[in-house]
Amino acid sequence: MSSPESEATRVISGFRPTSDLTVGNYLGAIKPALELQDDPNNDLYVFVADLHGLTDHDPREIGPYRTEVVQDCLALGVDPDKTTIYLQSAIEAPVTQIANRTAPYISVAELARTPNLKEKMQTAVRKGDAEDESSLQANFGLLGYPVLMAADIFAQMTPAVAVGEDQEPHLELARVIARRFNARFDSPALVVPEILAVKALRIVSLDGKGKMSKTNPGQAIILSDDPEDAARKIRRAATAGAGEWNATLESHFTVAENTTSDAGVLAELADIKAAHLEGKPVMGAFKGLWAKITEDLLVDFQGKKAQITDEKVERVLESGAAKAGANADEVLASMKEVMSF
Ligand code: TRP
Repeated sequence: MSSPESEATRVISGFRPTSDLTVGNYLGAIKPALELQDDPNNDLYVFVADLHGLTDHDPREIGPYRTEVVQDCLALGVDPDKTTIYLQSAIEAPVTQIANRTAPYISVAELARTPNLKEKMQTAVRKGDAEDESSLQANFGLLGYPVLMAADIFAQMTPAVAVGEDQEPHLELARVIARRFNARFDSPALVVPEILAVKALRIVSLDGKGKMSKTNPGQAIILSDDPEDAARKIRRAATAGAGEWNATLESHFTVAENTTSDAGVLAELADIKAAHLEGKPVMGAFKGLWAKITEDLLVDFQGKKAQITDEKVERVLESGAAKAGANADEVLASMKEVMSF
């Protein structure tokens, strides 16, 4: 006899808690997770990769975001009755032990080819010692980043990993590690994960200059923004001349269309887009409607967030860590057994 849960595919998704969430983070990471959660064929694990955050952030700076983003997730609809939610650091012991035990099966050269590290190595001072901050950007933690990420995945025995396309190189290394480990010990102790690539939405900043990011708050819609402030920012956003189309306007329409579920509003957006492409001057109307959509989104989100107490977050994380920790302990035990060590 098998329960529905045992037939469901385990899917894992993780993100680093490095700042307040923007609508870009919401659309790129949280909303795809909600879709996975609502598919009964999935048994979803969502975790906060706080140890990964340490590779390039001060722990004192990002510490508070760990529970903050969990509260955000709950307010946005991640449902702890369906989804296992936990902090990576809450199960640090078994996860880092799994990482240590797989580390011999990936070479420094393979790790050094990771695009993120390569880029930082290029800007790092060549001296190699780290009295200089730029040398430290290419640090040992960053070199080991894919090994720790692989351990997160192995620990939960998840065959599917929902990540953005930018994470593909990391996932490929996880697959290499799993295959080598299993071949070496002639046993399927580690699940070889497949990527479930989340379509990358290119959400640009409101002025169209670069990715929308909390580091440029005047040009980002941050979920904790005062709704009226957010509306003001939108009214100043860069668009395109009547009849013209560009990546900035495309991104703005993507945000507007994906942050409302009101059929009437969606139809209005479609009409505005058509009128704009016909050369009519409708950018004022677009911004007005988008500002309204955003105000509604933020009021709704912030109202829900206010209902989620610290105790609730604590309870969710406690039960998530118990379940995820038990999975990790099980994997570690089976690794020890096949290694006879
Ligand atoms: N590297 C991922 C990111 O920045 C976060 C992450 C860490 C992750 N460990 C993971 C994602 C395991 C999925 C599975 O987006």
